[in-house]
Amino acid sequence: MKGIVLAGGTGSRLYPLTRALSKQLLPVYDKPMIYYPLSVLMLGGIKDILVISSPDHLEQFRRLLGDGSRLGLNIDYAAQQRPGGIAEAFLIGADFIGQDQVSLVLGDNIFHGMGFSHLLRSHTRDVDGCVLFGYAVTDPERYGVGEVDASGKLLSVEEKPTAPRSNLAITGLYLYDNDVIEVARGIRSSARGELEITDVNRAYLAEGRARLVDLGRGFTWLDAGTHDSLMHAGQYVQVLEKRQGVRIACLEEIAFRMGLIDADDCYLRGVELAGSGYGEYLMSIAAEAAVRSPGCAYS
Ligand code: TTP
Repeated sequence: MKGIVLAGGTGSRLYPLTRALSKQLLPVYDKPMIYYPLSVLMLGGIKDILVISSPDHLEQFRRLLGDGSRLGLNIDYAAQQRPGGIAEAFLIGADFIGQDQVSLVLGDNIFHGMGFSHLLRSHTRDVDGCVLFGYAVTDPERYGVGEVDASGKLLSVEEKPTAPRSNLAITGLYLYDNDVIEVARGIRSSARGELEITDVNRAYLAEGRARLVDLGRGFTWLDAGTHDSLMHAGQYVQVLEKRQGVRIACLEEIAFRMGLIDADDCYLRGVELAGSGYGEYLMSIAAEAAVRSPGCAYS
């Protein structure tokens, strides 16, 4: 399966922060926002990743993440000339996706919870149709909302409904089979001039090939698109990291634990970031591994 992080858009709700800077490079506590959705793809076992952003910001993402090899990944980049909608990702990324299945994650979405990688991997293994992820919210009228039957099959999708049929908001993580490219090619732009992801999901729904997985209680889903939600996301990460002594969405740690890089690489990534708590953390993880397997360069 291929992965796409969609990190363009206008970010108008965050003005003036995003007048000159990309939203998805703003800090969420101790790391750039894009680390969080990128970690989701990694936890799903995806190694080939396309980052899509506006032409103005693409170079900064490239500077941050390079070709991905330092994380054991292959990262490509593509420009979205103007915010033409979330579903445009499948047209921009058509060559990159090739004959594969694809997972799309929005660059400002944060997912965190026990068992998430297991859940992801059980769905990324093979997708027939589309798999969406729902999260129970108290204000579903602000979101795309999905209604499901007892087996998780999607029955309806509504965009910002005044009278929602369920309280399950559809989150910014979507898995599709390869048909998604043709489906996206077949939809028309909305009145806003955008290719809407809801229309893609409706096409799968019409064929009875859409599922919505409830992320469940005890799980956290945040988007960081407004001043308050950006601040809350940062505070959430800060509280958990301080309390638990572990880091959320630390890409090098995930790469290390998934066997994409070895302990020496992890240590070196830490040295490069020395002076920050983040760098110290990487070095300490690698050093712990060295205690368990003596002979590493830095043990
Ligand atoms: P939104 O939050 O819907 O839009 P936005 O980021 O432009 O922000 P605002 O509403 O404040 O103007 O987008 C959700 C995510 O999808 C976000 O990470 C940006 C991304 N996106 C694109 O990359 N291209 C697009 O055409 C759209 C609509 C969104």
